[in-house]
Amino acid sequence: MMNKTLIEPHGGKLVDCYLPSKEREIALENAHTLPRLILSQRNLADLECIVTGVYSPLDGFVGEQDYYTIIKDMRLSSGFAWSIPVTLQIPELVADNYKLDTEIALAHPNGEILAVMFITSKFKPNQDFEAEKIYLTTEDAHPGIKALRAEGEVYLGGPIKLINLIPHKEFLDYRLTPNTSRSEFQKHQWKTIAAFQTRNPIHRAHEYITKIALEVVDGLFINPLVGITKSDDIPASVRMECYEVLISKYYPQNRVLLGVFPAAMRYAGPREAIMHAIARQNYGCTHFIVGRDHAGVGSYYGTYDAQYIFSKFTSQELRITPLNFEHAFYCTRTQSMATAKTSPSNPEERIHLSGTKVREILRNGKTPPPEFSRPEVAEILVKHMSVAKG
Ligand code: ADX
Repeated sequence: MMNKTLIEPHGGKLVDCYLPSKEREIALENAHTLPRLILSQRNLADLECIVTGVYSPLDGFVGEQDYYTIIKDMRLSSGFAWSIPVTLQIPELVADNYKLDTEIALAHPNGEILAVMFITSKFKPNQDFEAEKIYLTTEDAHPGIKALRAEGEVYLGGPIKLINLIPHKEFLDYRLTPNTSRSEFQKHQWKTIAAFQTRNPIHRAHEYITKIALEVVDGLFINPLVGITKSDDIPASVRMECYEVLISKYYPQNRVLLGVFPAAMRYAGPREAIMHAIARQNYGCTHFIVGRDHAGVGSYYGTYDAQYIFSKFTSQELRITPLNFEHAFYCTRTQSMATAKTSPSNPEERIHLSGTKVREILRNGKTPPPEFSRPEVAEILVKHMSVAKG
């Protein structure tokens, strides 16, 4: 039963694609007779977000109509805000196997059938147009574009019914769904909750902005993305070790909840910030932290574009409130974390840090200094680097 005091999910209610247990056996038997589609890691991540309600109100991969309204207007055809089409793409070579107005079985890479999808839409869009509008570039060097092109040219859309849970071996204690995160928030009696998205180990700037948020809300939901990321990002398993250590020593235990965000990373900057915020509203959060170059990569997006984009939506359209932060740095004059808003320092007194810089230091065989990372976190990262190098 959803608590009325918590923020409304996006679109009014949480999507639930699970088939009732009575129907599951018959559905599975039937699914074995259907054309089977083996899902990619990215599809799996999207499937998980759809079926658990993280991507409410989506109840399946998007069809042609929504695809175009999302691209052109950042809205679903129903009018609800949505910024990136969540698509199921297949190579043109196999497209004839999957027919419009029929059911298909969606399978895990290990062959296990997970779900059935009724194909209500099958189309072949212009991917350059999609790339330009969503990622603001068509360059293959952009990891989101590379993934977009690798997934296939033909797009299938339609509602999904989940038969079997997506199997996982990692982070089992941290796999909260919007339903379970909402009950956790209720248990803690938190009314205002700030969500923190990250794909990096938490460094001092992250810690700083999350703690400023904690000064004004009841609880902090640290919600690291653990779906597929680009190959030079720190693996989620290493990051989780870092989060656990950091939270246990540097955060107030009763005001923080750690839960994984199963989505794949798209690196779409501003558009992805909106999607990240919607997902966190569905988890039950009232506020969403947006710092510098949120979900960005390289220099494709302006430093604060991911903050400006929120002005394109009313507070009725997006109930979750963005908490914007300026670029945070370590200030050697005040010997603390700061931003240009709070620090009297000159540029040479500012040590700028980012996930990219931390990765660079590690690649050079060095330990990130305490102005960058807490020593316990640095230790885990250095250990990971030496294992990775063999
Ligand atoms: S992201 O791709 O998940 O956005 P990252 O894990 O680096 O990347 O960032 C997590 C959040 O912290 C984002 O909202 C980002 O804007 C913010 N952030 C990262 N570094 C800084 C910084 N130095 N100052 C302010 N905000 C930052």
